[in-house]
Amino acid sequence: MTRSSTIPLCTLLVGLLFACAGPGDGSGKGCLREGAVVSEHPLATAVGLEILERGGNAADAAVATALALAVCLPQAGNLGGGGFAVQVAPTGEAWALDFRETAPSAADPRRYLDEGGEHVPERSISGALAIGIPGSPHGLFELHRRCGSGRLGFAQLVEPAIRLAREGFGVDPWLARDLGRARVMEKMNAPARAVFYPGGVPLVAGQRLVQQDLARTLERYAREGPDGFYRGWVAAALVREVLRTPVPGVGLPSADTLSLEDLAAYRSQERPVLRGRFRGHELLTMPPPSSGGLVVLSVLGVLDGLPLEGEVDGADGEPGERLLHWWIEAMRQAFADRALHMGDPDFYPVPTDNLLAPEWIAARRVAIGEQAAPDVAAWAPAPPPESEQTTHLSVVDRTGGAVAMTTTLNASFGCGTMVQGCGFLLNNELDDFAIAAGVPNMFGLVGSTANAIRPGKRPLSSMSPTIVLGPQGRVRLVLGSPGGPRIITATLQVLLRTLVGGQDLRTAVRAPRLHQQWSPASTLFEATPRFSWEPGPLEALVGRGHPIERVERRFGSVQAIWIDGRSPIACSDPRRGGAGGTERGGVARPAMPPR
Ligand code: GLY
Repeated sequence: MTRSSTIPLCTLLVGLLFACAGPGDGSGKGCLREGAVVSEHPLATAVGLEILERGGNAADAAVATALALAVCLPQAGNLGGGGFAVQVAPTGEAWALDFRETAPSAADPRRYLDEGGEHVPERSISGALAIGIPGSPHGLFELHRRCGSGRLGFAQLVEPAIRLAREGFGVDPWLARDLGRARVMEKMNAPARAVFYPGGVPLVAGQRLVQQDLARTLERYAREGPDGFYRGWVAAALVREVLRTPVPGVGLPSADTLSLEDLAAYRSQERPVLRGRFRGHELLTMPPPSSGGLVVLSVLGVLDGLPLEGEVDGADGEPGERLLHWWIEAMRQAFADRALHMGDPDFYPVPTDNLLAPEWIAARRVAIGEQAAPDVAAWAPAPPPESEQTTHLSVVDRTGGAVAMTTTLNASFGCGTMVQGCGFLLNNELDDFAIAAGVPNMFGLVGSTANAIRPGKRPLSSMSPTIVLGPQGRVRLVLGSPGGPRIITATLQVLLRTLVGGQDLRTAVRAPRLHQQWSPASTLFEATPRFSWEPGPLEALVGRGHPIERVERRFGSVQAIWIDGRSPIACSDPRRGGAGGTERGGVARPAMPPR
């Protein structure tokens, strides 16, 4: 497949308006001394930096980084999943791309019920009925076509991923840890076991992982673009694999579960960027079918009218107990709206304007009293452990352009089904639908008809790729995270700590996190040996009536870039094994391996 000869509109604008579009030229409004990349794998970050150094822009580097993650971060990087990207050009022109998975044309909520009409939660988590039509191959191609620099063809962006798959790389301690978990091995099908469990034992750290089938699939994709994935032998193999993946409690799925026509019909979609303001900054973030952007802007809207700075410790920027109380209550309110009102806007009229209307935001703000106001109406199970299903990457280039991109397989390693002969894993994204109204999904999230499963519909997401512009309209911060609903609250907390607390990016990313998602009512606080809250503020919150729970797990994995003057600071969350880097500085050392 050759690259379209039409020069993308955003490339033209950038080239015409800004003298700094060429590498090395430091003049112009948004220019930086160097570009930067941050992702959840140092090899993928190195690929992104290589593309920037070869003259690619942020969109080019984001695409190449995401494809490298599809090889070296099989837990979440993907061809068989989907995602979102928010891009801003040096002109300030912004663009959002939705490459979320869709439900197949035969999707039917009744297929998730047993004979007695009871909802069977495993059916949207594992087996053929969990798998959505992948969006990444279409979306990554579109991002390059629409926003790439024009200096590198699509095949050149896929090439580093092919190299990594073909030549292999040393398994990192995080992948080795995940493969060593019994529940991961159990869910893998035979082709996935052949790759990750040679001789029946999990790969260990340092062992070489070569993925010849994946390399072949990537080569075809590099040559033919989306048609190389959605048509021909890859598509045929994908459908065959789905149709031999048993449905829990049923056995083999019916022949219409996922079809060649479903694959051929898949299209990523441009969406209107969601814009909001907070403390003199403009935020560019993802609209529905993500709930992430709407929840982030709702919470920040409520908080923007409160005297936050007076509740911050002047010495270290740490939030005081009263400020934590406001954060939690604002999150609780926004997640309540999420459960009732958010879904795929092509199928359900999401009342975005009403939810962000100044009157509604003000009403929410005045409803916050001195005491916690948890919803006591419904019982809800404790949220299950966070899965490492999703991954985020951030890129800035020297022209001042930026991309925030989050992609996902949903659960860690998706549903564990690898397409025979093609080397990629399939998602279990259909669990992000509210399969039955009010019944929690694997993240404990509840929903309503707004997010009911329908043919062709996209499940509601929490992915929150976000770009913050400073008062002069220049990129100040690019960020996002994995972590199910904790994506939203992790992103919010880094925004609040940097923009209100004045903390530097590393301190803000490293700080312990809390999570509040309306149902269940409890606010969760990180309590691990490395990331833990002081007891003082928590005791004060209990005094205000907040139900709290200390959780021995790490929340999210923020991948962020802060622009300090003209210098980017790339920060990968020490909770996982990612790494940031800059063009001249190379890739930073990844975080400590898991214990
Ligand atoms: N699968 C995680 C999300 O989209 O929120």
